[in-house]
Order: sequence, then structure tokens, then C-alpha cells
Amino acid sequence: MLHLVRRALLAVTLLGFIAAAPAYAHETLKLEAPKPLLAPTPPMGWNSWNKFACNINEALVRKQADAMVASGMKDAGYQYIVIDDCWQKSRDADGNIVADPERFPGGIKALVDYVHSKGLKFGLYSDAGALTCGGRPGSAGHEFQDARQYASWGVDYLKYDWCYTGPRNAEAAYTIMAKALRESGRDIVLSICEWGTNQPERWGPTVGHLWRTTGDIYDAWEGKKDWSHGMTNILDMQVERWRHAAPNAWNDPDMLEVGNGGMTTTEYESHFSLWAMLAAPLIAGNDLSTMDADTRRILTNTDVIAVDQDPLGQQARRIWKEGDLEIWARPLQGGGHVVVLFNRGEAPSDMKVSWDQLELPAGQKADVKDLWSKKVSKKVRGSYGGTVAPHGVIMLRITPVR
Ligand code: GLA
Repeated sequence: MLHLVRRALLAVTLLGFIAAAPAYAHETLKLEAPKPLLAPTPPMGWNSWNKFACNINEALVRKQADAMVASGMKDAGYQYIVIDDCWQKSRDADGNIVADPERFPGGIKALVDYVHSKGLKFGLYSDAGALTCGGRPGSAGHEFQDARQYASWGVDYLKYDWCYTGPRNAEAAYTIMAKALRESGRDIVLSICEWGTNQPERWGPTVGHLWRTTGDIYDAWEGKKDWSHGMTNILDMQVERWRHAAPNAWNDPDMLEVGNGGMTTTEYESHFSLWAMLAAPLIAGNDLSTMDADTRRILTNTDVIAVDQDPLGQQARRIWKEGDLEIWARPLQGGGHVVVLFNRGEAPSDMKVSWDQLELPAGQKADVKDLWSKKVSKKVRGSYGGTVAPHGVIMLRITPVR
């Protein structure tokens, strides 16, 4: 009798495993094709999730593409329009993924064509599990079929999530999708979204172009809600990650909340500056079609964007911290440095960076540009600083000169 109960239990356990992760005992695929060079600098674009979650449709997506061009964001370097979760509805009799016909009556291909006609690129979302986080069909067991489908629609970017993956091995699961994309006949960026839980910095650089390092961001200066973290909490989790970032292989501290209303303008300037220092993908998460002047000014600050997009691809380090005050620095191609003086406190603070902290000789002359006020100071020696607003930054580009 006991024997029968044990056998039944084993059968139930096995069935559970199979339901969660269909037939993946053979997950040892090797990537033969090299990773295409699609993200020499961190990807820039827009994603539907932070502002709209599942409330998406094709008219909205077209509007975002229009606004990306009209607002000057495209000229500033933003490229991808990415639809996150909830665009999928079901699979057809052949297993092909089917877009929600009520929300996307024209189909994904027509939407991709529209986005391409604006000179932009198009991204989609899926998940390595049986279901996406929003409960839509995931790609488990359909990786090659889905990758071929995306390629035939003209998709340029895939964000690939990690819900409902049961006991799957993350490296193996993402490797399967990477292989499927590389064999799809189209160049498709792979954005790994397993929240940093399986050391993606170890395998992410060969498998994908960027990998999430944490759970989700939410639109607040600081805090923690279940799986989500405020902006400064996410920042704190990036401190040790600088050594893993490189061209075509980026840490992803999650998308921008600039313009979504939960932080002040000063805090959004800090958020944008710090993400640029982190060489983070700059994926706007607000409604581009209704953004105010400050949001647009922040998202299109080309001096700050140039830091994010610096070809050296060296992520910033926090080089100094005392209480609420921090200095972050990153070297730039050509020998310059960018410094962020960051004040987390509630009172204005006088802060400065010394050349010594940047390993420059004290007598070295340098031109200093404040990337928000645009003030330029020529041939500065020794150090430079100013009064940093509460929750604010001073962001400086420091260029040694003779
Ligand atoms: C996860 C991801 C988010 C978003 C949602 C969609 O939480 O981390 O970025 O894609 O799923 O359901």
C-alpha cells in the first residue's frame, strides 16, 4: 500500500515538473553562432510596462512611436519601441503565438512596419516559462517557433522574462532562446530578464546583450514593495557590478521612471544621471505622448546621454561615500572622466571632487562642463565642486587639457 502511495506521489511530482518545464532534461544546447554585435553601447528606447502595464493596444504603441520622433528623443538616440507583457493571447492549432485580437487587431507585423517606417526599431516581450508574468502564453517549448515568428514580423529586440519557469536552469533556458534568435535569420537583441537571481553576469555576456540585475523598479525615490524597489534601492544593488559591464554586454538596473509622477524633477535628474553613469540601457517608461517640458528636457539631455553611450563602456564606480553624500565616477574614451556628486540628504550640501580621486595629477588642468547647468569652466586645477541640492546631483564632465 505504502509502495503505491509512494509511486503516486512520485508520479504527481514528475507531472508537476513536466507541467512547469516541458521536457527540458536535454537542456545542454551549445551556442554555435557568435553573439551578434547589436549593442556596442547600451540600448535606448521606450517600453510599455512602467506606465501602462497590461493596458496596451496598437493605437497607443503607434502614438509612442510618433512621440519618440516628434519630441526629439529619436534625434537624441532613442531607437527601440518595446511592447512588454500582455500583447499575447493564445497559440493557434500549429502552436504559433497569437496577438490579442482586440488590442492588436492589425496584428504585430503591421505595427512593426509602422515603427520601422518612423526610422525606429521594434521590440517584443516573452518569458522562458509556460506563462508570462502576466499569465499569457510563454515561450517554453516554443523557442525556435517563436524566434522564427518574431523574425518574420521584423522584430529587432526581445525582452525575455523568468516567471513560471519551475526548476529550469536559467543559463540553459536563456541559451536556448539565444540560439533560436541567432538561427532566426534576423538580428535580434536579447534582453535577459531573470532579475539577477542566477548570477546572470556569469553567463549573460555570452548569451544576451543585457541582463537585469534586480527585481522591478517602481516610481519612488526609495522603498521596497514585494518584488519591487525604489530608485535608490536599485542603485545600491549596482555598486559592485561595474566589473561585469562591457560593450555588447550590459548590466540592466531596470527601466526609467522619469516622468511617471512619483519623484520630483530633481530626483528624476538624479535617476537619469545615475543610470547614465551605470551604462544602463536607457529605456523610457513614461507616456511619451503627454510628457511635460521637464521630462522631455531630462530624457533628451544629450550631454548625459553621451555619458551613457560612451564607447569605452566602462560602468561607474562609487569612489567615495560619507553618510548621505556620494561620488560616482567613470572614465571616458579619450581620457576624460565623468563625475556625479550625489546628495541623498534633505539639506543642500557643498561637495567637490579632487583630481586625486580621479588619479589625475593635482597640477593637471582640465575643462569642466556641468552637464545640467551647461556651465563650462576652463583650465581648472586640483578640484571642482558646488552646492548639491537635496536628492540632487551635480554631473561633471572633466576633460584634461594642456
Ligand atoms: C516582470 C518583469 C517586468 C515586467 C513584468 C511583466 O515583473 O521584471 O519588467 O516585464 O514582469 O509582467
